[in-house]
Amino acid sequence: TTDSEYSVIDDQQVGSIFIPRQEFSHKGSYGKAVIIGGSYGKIGAAVLATQSALKTGAGLTFTLAPECGYEILQISCPEAMFIKGGEQVMTNFEFDKDFTCGIGPGLGTHSDTEKSFLSFLKNYSQPLILDADALNILSKDPKYLELIPKKSIITPHPKEFERLFGSTDHSFKRLELAREKAKELDIYIVLKDHHTQVITPQGNVFYNITGNAGLAKGGSGDILTGILTSLLAQRYSPEQACILGVWLHGRAADIASEKHSKESMLPTDVIDEFGNVFEELN
Ligand code: APR
Ligand code: MG
Repeated sequence: TTDSEYSVIDDQQVGSIFIPRQEFSHKGSYGKAVIIGGSYGKIGAAVLATQSALKTGAGLTFTLAPECGYEILQISCPEAMFIKGGEQVMTNFEFDKDFTCGIGPGLGTHSDTEKSFLSFLKNYSQPLILDADALNILSKDPKYLELIPKKSIITPHPKEFERLFGSTDHSFKRLELAREKAKELDIYIVLKDHHTQVITPQGNVFYNITGNAGLAKGGSGDILTGILTSLLAQRYSPEQACILGVWLHGRAADIASEKHSKESMLPTDVIDEFGNVFEELN
């Protein structure tokens, strides 16, 4: 690694962040992750994020989703516990204080969801992960951005970034705008792209070079949210979680593409390779 404000994430940096599982540990040692999302027709996004959290080491994983996702989630993620957050859409953002939460996959932007999400944020100050529709809701009013808890991680793709902070005519200007906003809001921004950039509140930029165009498919972002929520629950710092998380996501995708091709690989195939990536790290 270097002292430069801009650097590329390498195997050595990732190796120094990763902490192997301790022999004398128990599920309490690895935190509680809760994925908050899903709505009628988009329960799959919550399933993917939940499976991803389960497969990246969280001690206990929960899904807070509307009732219409209950059976789907219990069947597709039997290791996770379901918490009811509404009927057809999310309206109740209540969970235990010691949970680490990732909000957004499949959440939808229903006005009832928006109202309850915003009032939840007004009373919440722990770092959390915000993605997808959580970001789309926050895009509706610039004042909402101030509700994001300090040291949180947001994971916009370029369109979501534009909705949040405005458009720029070049990707370099977008990166500079992201550095400004990360400082101003005291948050981490994971700017998702072919080479995803992790931007810290100090204005440092870490480029990730793992991953491939096989990830250009619905659901790839949802599994990144699961990874980041799980790593933050395991008490990696937000910066460590971002760096290790984006690298792991891309590395697993690279293995999946060798086996299945970029065309055929699915986000679930990427989840299936997490184990091989941990084998490499251990
Ligand atoms: N090369 C490398 N990585 C890529 C590439 C590529 N060509 N294309 C995509 N990726 C990676 C991105 O870096 C990111 O991590 O795949 C992921 C895609 O994330 P999203 O854009 O959030 O995609 P998606 O999973 O479809 O999101 C699901 O949430 O953001 C909303 O509206 C979106 O309905 C969609 C849902
Ligand atoms: Mg997405």
